[in-house]
Amino acid sequence: MFLIRRQLSNSLPRIIKTNSPSFVHKSLKGSLETSLLIKRTSIISVHRDSSDDNPDIPFEFNEENKVRAKEIIAKYPSQYKKSAVMPLLDLGQRQVGFTSISVMNYVAKLLDMPPMRVYEVATFYTMYNRHPMGKYNIQVCTTTPCQLCNSDSIMETITSYLKIKPGQTTPDKLFTLQEVECLGACANAPMIAINDDYYEDLTSEKVVEILKSFQEGKPTEAGPVSGRKSIEPLGGQKVLLSPEPNDIRNFTRSDL
Ligand code: FES
Repeated sequence: MFLIRRQLSNSLPRIIKTNSPSFVHKSLKGSLETSLLIKRTSIISVHRDSSDDNPDIPFEFNEENKVRAKEIIAKYPSQYKKSAVMPLLDLGQRQVGFTSISVMNYVAKLLDMPPMRVYEVATFYTMYNRHPMGKYNIQVCTTTPCQLCNSDSIMETITSYLKIKPGQTTPDKLFTLQEVECLGACANAPMIAINDDYYEDLTSEKVVEILKSFQEGKPTEAGPVSGRKSIEPLGGQKVLLSPEPNDIRNFTRSDL
């Protein structure tokens, strides 16, 4: 028997294989407890038909996305066109705001795949949001490097400013909040992502300023808010000061 449990954070599902009834019972109990906690803390990928997510809701790519989908599929040999499943799911998610069951079924049909194979992909990767989202998806990284740089206070500031918890959407449908694992910008910790953009080197004050800018419809420019351009030291760049890129041929033997 396979039991799929998700960790408390918004990470990938863990699969536990067992045949022991007592283990199953304990695991189910644990899963239920975990699910209840997840409901309060994160978004879980379980499909339940609802008024805004059921297979009877029609979906197809708009004209622009039909062209893009064709281009994406053409990148793969025709016998492997199912390799396009991830970018096509992403395209569908961008069109309707989340990866609905109708999006998944449409992609399955387009790629001649069993729908279950598409569901597996969409529920495995946390980049696919399986529930209607706010206009802006705020992802707060709370993994160790960000946590050491005070991501807890960033999360606290956001939850108290927006009055929502991770996994929830503001009543005006402007923001959805998620707690996520490392987003790969540890050198600029603490950081959050809002849709596709990263906001880095954050402080509680800066994060409120950023949220206000989104509420006012004039989003702050993405990037580090500390004045850094990238990941150079806070005291300023110490190396690679030349305006020209280094020519490797100046540093290697010409006969190599
Ligand atoms: S730990 Fe936060 S971006 Fe890596």
